Amino acid sequence: MIAKQIIEKKKDAHALASTEIREFIAAYTAGDIPDCQMSALAMAICWRGMTVRETADLTDAMMRSGAMLEWSEDGAPTADKHSTGGVGDKLSFVVQPLAAACGLRVPSLVGRGLGLTGGTADKLEAIPGYDATLPLARFCEIVDTVGVSMNAQTAEICPADKKLYALRDVTGTVASIPLITASILSKKLAEGVGALVFDVKCGSGAFMKTREDAEALARSLVDGAKAMGRRAVALVNDMEAPTGYAVGNANEVEEALDILARRDAARHAETAELCITEAAHMVALARDIPLEKARKLARARLEDGAAIAKFREMVAAHGGDLDAFEKRRAKRIVRRWKISAMKSGIVEKIDAAAVATAALMLGAGRMQATDKIDHDAGILLAVKRGRRVAVGDELATLETATRGDALESAAAQLYKAFAIQHATT
Ligand code: URA
Repeated sequence: MIAKQIIEKKKDAHALASTEIREFIAAYTAGDIPDCQMSALAMAICWRGMTVRETADLTDAMMRSGAMLEWSEDGAPTADKHSTGGVGDKLSFVVQPLAAACGLRVPSLVGRGLGLTGGTADKLEAIPGYDATLPLARFCEIVDTVGVSMNAQTAEICPADKKLYALRDVTGTVASIPLITASILSKKLAEGVGALVFDVKCGSGAFMKTREDAEALARSLVDGAKAMGRRAVALVNDMEAPTGYAVGNANEVEEALDILARRDAARHAETAELCITEAAHMVALARDIPLEKARKLARARLEDGAAIAKFREMVAAHGGDLDAFEKRRAKRIVRRWKISAMKSGIVEKIDAAAVATAALMLGAGRMQATDKIDHDAGILLAVKRGRRVAVGDELATLETATRGDALESAAAQLYKAFAIQHATT
């Protein structure tokens, strides 16, 4: 294989052969192809794209660069859900245990955040004692016994993606549908699950800003998963405004717990419905039953407490203390700042990207991979889009344990997220 010829072939808009893709990725992972050649190929892929077959080959090559999990045939069916990432996205804490409560095994390897708020693994670590870095063998054991485990991606899974993603991050080659597809899919397929549900976010707080791009990514993920023999569905969900009320880490887990415990159900109805829909798709695909039947089952398991029981069991298996987390909730030591409406009207917009920037300023996310997250930092929205507010009504509260000095500027940033439209009636 001559790397330069493969780069030129893609630069000239030709489809690469399966062996060319496989050998290029294997050589790059082994350190036999330098970063400069890999970034040249990534840039050529950004411009020229890839066919469904090439994307599947790239996914396969990346998936095979590390460990691949296998699940016993005689156990419960396996499935996972992957979100492309959004602001206030706490759905996994409800969806994954809910799907397990409906009889699935859910091995969920989750990410850490860079930019915006923390990733799912960071948020789970807000629970005292929760170890999201268990070895793969223990992760598999928990999936087989409890039904669900959420653990950080380990170094053994898809090392090619780890290396390539870091390179794409600094060479302006992240925004490419085939590269994003192969990156996400290779990691999810390495989990060895039979069914995958993709939650593709669309809007200011998401990777994909337009409906057209989100639908293209959704199609690509589903085509790729099917080409690799899995059942798959993608849902495109709005990310112009944050999901639910909490944006941060500990506060997002708290909101998920409220949904699981059916506390203040009317307030959380919209987010709970999203969770039921995603879990229902997982169950329908994995158990091969009609979606409406799966939806009824998921709703029943949320309402009868089976989902929160699964979440508790999973947290305990990871060494976490949920009671301590709940007790701490009321007496979190943070500095707070409240922002209020300066005019009356209807809340027309709560810009997800602006909210995320404010949360990042408070310490809820990382600017660099080595930054430490403040699990108690974040934002609690007091209103949702469409709500009528009067002058002085609370819009949101900002909290931070570590960046008190940034509260005022983060509050000014957060205020910019709101658009209030004057209403005459
Ligand atoms: N998430 C990933 O895991 N990879 C990408 O390329 C983009 C988002």
